[in-house]
Amino acid sequence: MVLEKDFTIAEVDKRIYGSFIEHLGRAVYGGIYEPDHPTADEQGFRQDVIDLINEIDVPIIRYPGGNFVSGYNWEDGVGPVEARPRRLELAWRTTEPNWIGTNEFMQWAKRVNSEVNMAINLGTRGIDAARNLVEYCNHTSGSYYSDLRISHGYKEPHKIKTWCLGNEMDGPWQIGHKTANEYGRIALEAAKVMKWVDPTIELVACGSSSRAMATYAEWEATVLDHTYDHVEYLSLHTYYGNRDNNIENFLARSLDMDAFIHEVVAICDYIKAKKRSKKTMFLSFDEWNVWFHSNEADRKLEPWTIAPPQLEDVYTFEDALLVGSLLITLLRHSDRVKIACMAQLVNVIAPIMTTNGGDAWRQTIFYPYMHASVYGRGVALNPIISSPKYDSKDFTDVPYLESIAVYNEENEELTVFAVNKDTTGGLLLDCDIRGFSGFKVVEHLVLENEDVKATNTEKEPNRVVPHNRGNAEVKDGLLQAVLPKLSWNVIRLK
Ligand code: AHR
Repeated sequence: MVLEKDFTIAEVDKRIYGSFIEHLGRAVYGGIYEPDHPTADEQGFRQDVIDLINEIDVPIIRYPGGNFVSGYNWEDGVGPVEARPRRLELAWRTTEPNWIGTNEFMQWAKRVNSEVNMAINLGTRGIDAARNLVEYCNHTSGSYYSDLRISHGYKEPHKIKTWCLGNEMDGPWQIGHKTANEYGRIALEAAKVMKWVDPTIELVACGSSSRAMATYAEWEATVLDHTYDHVEYLSLHTYYGNRDNNIENFLARSLDMDAFIHEVVAICDYIKAKKRSKKTMFLSFDEWNVWFHSNEADRKLEPWTIAPPQLEDVYTFEDALLVGSLLITLLRHSDRVKIACMAQLVNVIAPIMTTNGGDAWRQTIFYPYMHASVYGRGVALNPIISSPKYDSKDFTDVPYLESIAVYNEENEELTVFAVNKDTTGGLLLDCDIRGFSGFKVVEHLVLENEDVKATNTEKEPNRVVPHNRGNAEVKDGLLQAVLPKLSWNVIRLK
């Protein structure tokens, strides 16, 4: 591998380390909010969960959905809690009590030092509800909705900068599913009125809900044809699983994410050319993760309960390796991917798990996410990599080494993130860093485990944890390290 200060991809937008909280399962109720919990604060928020989120340092959190948002009346979640309605929530077949709504969530987001990426309902609602919500959240005072917010006890506007124009509107499962033309039209009209209320906001239009959708690519092009001049980002969503228990193939899925991003960038640039536009469209990868472990359990849940244990994937060590590879892939595209949200944050396909009334702990995937967020701030460098490769069921030429480096000029720190996907042995990393004269290894963190199916649970929360006994060292401008068999590595140099 060769690293050079001048081989820059882009300044990493910290929002690439974003996450997502949906009114789904125990993400909100039993996750971030549990008034009877021993660590709950005066507002009912779990301090143990806040502490874990603060370890990751999550810069932006998408809210309130997801599929949930396409049937959500935002008005149900504001004003006196005792007057809020209980609703049948059709996306996930639960009962939504509306104990937490926009204002409470904004208060909580401050506690974890995050911005909110607010999604509007373009399923059952439309441009009227959208402009009213922007007015309620962002207008200072002197209008019906801003004064309503003030009467609810929130004098200062929330100043929400980033807004999603609906969620996965291409999916037949979505409440209010639309064709690309129907969605493109309503997204454009919503964008116009929302920006007329607050011209400082930025908007994300819905791309496809996965690369496998039959309407993929055509959907992106049509939606952008309508909205190009009025939005700043186009969304991408993807989830991966290891259903056939084929680790080589599973770990190669980062190549799918890579191709997905390349293709969506190409579509954006095609519309840019078609419109002779000077504007570049950026990407918001606003849902990505591993999701498959909980599928079977979810089919057995009773409908219409409040906060059932939905989508509670218990992540294995091998999942953490793929998550690390996906983070590296996002960083490799940091010139176009400006926002990305690991879906989700607590209990629901999440790095953090809780039990009601009990502990909160870190799942395996917590570690690569936390390492990337904490050490991956700065300029992403394009590494020239030459690695042995393998073929798997669905992929050819999969490099065993997946790697990226981030250079933080202010702190004079260089961090190399690397995954070794080889199931048989260690990989010797030889990295030319002659341009970083005087840099020495501060720490070589390694996440490895003999058992690829090892998990962290409430009883055994520390089965999969990183250690700092990696052997990286610098000699004569060459960074050398053995990346152990199947491992996530963070090599920090200063
Ligand atoms: O994150 C879980 C769900 O996955 C979201 O609600 C939806 O947008 C996607 O299909």
